[in-house]
Order: sequence, then structure tokens, then C-alpha cells
Amino acid sequence: MMMGEYLAFAAVQAPEPDTRDVATRWGSPTGFRTYSPQDVAQSDVLLRVQDLTKRFPVSLGFRKKAYVSASDGVSFDIKRGTTVGIVGESGCGKSTAARLVLGLIEPDSGTVAFEGVDVKTLSRGRRRELRRDMQMVFQDPYSALNPRMSVGESIAFPMRVHGTSRSEARERAALLLRQVGLHPNHASYYPHQMSGGQRQRVNIARALALNPRLVVADEAVSALDKSVQAQVLNLLTDLQEELGLTYMFISHDLNVVQYMSDRVVVMYLGQVVEECASDELYERPLHPYTQALLGSVGGLDPDQPPGPRLEGEIPSPIDPPSGCRFRTRCPEAMPICAEQRPALRQPREGHFVACHLFEEDPAPASSGSAAPATALAV
Ligand SMILES: Nc1ncnc2c1ncn2[C@@H]1O[C@H](COP(=O)(O)OP(=O)(O)OP(=O)(O)O)[C@@H](O)[C@H]1O
Ligand code: SF4
Ligand SMILES: [Mg+2]
Repeated sequence: MMMGEYLAFAAVQAPEPDTRDVATRWGSPTGFRTYSPQDVAQSDVLLRVQDLTKRFPVSLGFRKKAYVSASDGVSFDIKRGTTVGIVGESGCGKSTAARLVLGLIEPDSGTVAFEGVDVKTLSRGRRRELRRDMQMVFQDPYSALNPRMSVGESIAFPMRVHGTSRSEARERAALLLRQVGLHPNHASYYPHQMSGGQRQRVNIARALALNPRLVVADEAVSALDKSVQAQVLNLLTDLQEELGLTYMFISHDLNVVQYMSDRVVVMYLGQVVEECASDELYERPLHPYTQALLGSVGGLDPDQPPGPRLEGEIPSPIDPPSGCRFRTRCPEAMPICAEQRPALRQPREGHFVACHLFEEDPAPASSGSAAPATALAV
């Protein structure tokens, strides 16, 4: 996300004074909201994304305009306290989905519901609160931080925007630095004085500053070395356990997504093509695209025979293929694939796939999954 976009995200309308006391606001004497196991067990869907469609206008030269289909009928749920991974090749619409969820861009159609309430129907005040509840961790830890602000100031910034006093924000910034495995003394450092991993920890601390419930991590570890990646991923999982966080975890790296996610949404050219539990996806991928993606990267299990590889170029999102958007690269393509868009069906309990090769299980057992909110219309 661009810095300007972040500032627009943080610098919401004039902040209202927060009249709740510190313990209530941050949820616990140590300054962090905590959830009991019962809370998590009783909870259900925190975020429901339903049929989100977004087309971006682009200029094709003199008086020629076209539209990029970046999100086309995207639906998924995220249950409270869980992680949903969003995976797919570059340009498939992962960041667009994140920006739509965070309200940074408006969808052409479709809804984003937080705790069962369509965000479009919320009052201004409640929308402002919602901006605290949903935070983002950026891809590039360096450019996401203002080089002229000390680490302490960067972490305190969103709290100050939301009306927290200077001393309280400073105190909480020190707590957050500890929480992400840094020393409170790091508050006086500037971004260029820190390593990539430390900077990403600062970004995570800043994302947690307003005590969010949903954290959207968009390629949050992609810019880091493998060993540092592992540390930051472990930090994210520890924080999730400790704070009851819910993650929308975006990455093009399937192995990272598997490590982090309870459920995985696979996207191709702006559409969801498969959605199921993480283990199920890696053990039994159904969609030819997912199989090819897995075949291309190689799994974590060296004994697993390599799958089919992903061939060919991604078609233009300005003029995507008719019917199934994957058909130009699909080894299994049939005539119907050019004619009809495959609906998202559930051939196995809790396992959704949009492909004409699969039929709906006629009598699925009661699905305990975070099922997509709707099946896509053919
Ligand atoms: N503001 C915009 N104007 C025009 N097209 C856009 C805009 N933002 C995104 N797109 C296009 O929408 C499509 C989806 O982009 P998006 O950034 O969501 O992909 P992504 O999956 O996050 O890719 P990456 O893995 O490279 O980050 C791309 O074709 C992109 O070029
Ligand atoms: S719908 Fe057809 S083209 Fe698309 S993935 Fe399935 S078999 Fe391949
Ligand atoms: Mg992206």
C-alpha cells in the first residue's frame, strides 16, 4: 500500500475524545485485549466478504478506456481467532481484496460485513471505530515507516490520530515494542538504524497499536530473508494466540500460507477458484490451477511426487477468457469451460472449488467450515 493510502487510512475524520479508561480501551491491565478460550469457541464469522467486484478504469491511449477486472465475485469468510490465507500469482487480486476489506477502495458491488454488519450501513462514528478494529501490516517494512519519525513516534502515530494522549501513547508504544520482541529503547531508533526483521516487528507493533481484531498482512514477510521470515511468522502466530487476533494473510508463497493458515482461498485472475482447510488444500488440491501452483513450488514433503507444473502466461485482466478464466492454461479444459463460468461447488465437506470437473456433493454432512458466503452464479 502506498504511504498516502496509509495516511488516508489512519488520518480519519476528526478524532473523538475516547472516554473509556485505559484498562477498558486496551482490554487488560497490560494494555492488551485478551480473549478467553470460551470467547473464541463461541465466536463465529468475524469477516464475511460477499460477491466483491471491482474493476479499475485504465487508459489505452487516446480516448480509449478499458477496465481491469481485479475482483470478480470474491466471497470468503474469516472466523474469529483464525487465519485465512489468500494465495495466487501476481496480479490475481489479493491486494485488491485487502483494500476492499479495509475500506481503502469502494467495491463496484458486493459487501464486506464485520461481525455480521454490512460496513456500508454503519454510521460515520462506527466506521471510525471499525478502522481501529482492522489494521494492516505492509509488505515493505522500510517504505511503510516514515524515515523522519522515530520508531516510538511511528507506533504512537495511529494512537495520537485517534485521540490518545502523548504520554499514554508513549507508554503503550513501549509495551508494544516488548510484545513484538524488541526493547523499549528501540523507541528512539530511526528506521534506517534497524534490520529488515526489526523494522517489520515495528510495523506489526504499529498495526497492533489500536488493539485491532482483524489484521490484514499483505505479503508481510516477502521482503525478508528466509530465517527472518520464520521469526516474523512465529511472532505473528504467538501474537494471534496471545491476543485472539484474526488474520487475513496474503502471500504468493504457498509454503508460507500453509504454515500460517487455518483455511486458504486460492485466487486466479480476480476470482476465487478454491477454498478449504489448509491441510486439505495441500493434501488434496482439486482445482487444476491449485494443483499446478503446488506442482510449481514443490511441497514441504520431499517424498511427495511433483505435480503438474504451471504453464503459459496469465491472460490480461482487461479482457479475461470467457467461461473459466483458467481455461487457456488448463490441461483439463473442455468445451463447456469456454462457455460457462464454473460455480463454486462443494464436492467435499468444507472444500469449495470452481471447476466444471466437480459436482456438488449431493448430501454434505453439516459443514463446520468457514464456507464462502455464496456460491457464485454460473
Ligand atoms: N489502481 C489500479 N488501477 C488499475 N489497475 C489496478 C489498480 N490496482 C490494481 N490494479 C490491477 O488489478 C489487478 C489485481 O491487482 P492486485 O494488486 O490486487 O494483485 P495482487 O494479487 O496483489 O498482485 P501481487 O502479488 O503482485 O501483489 C492487477 O492486474 C493490477 O494491475
Ligand atoms: S473449469 Fe475447465 S478450464 Fe477451468 S479449471 Fe476446470 S477443467 Fe480447467
Ligand atoms: Mg499485492
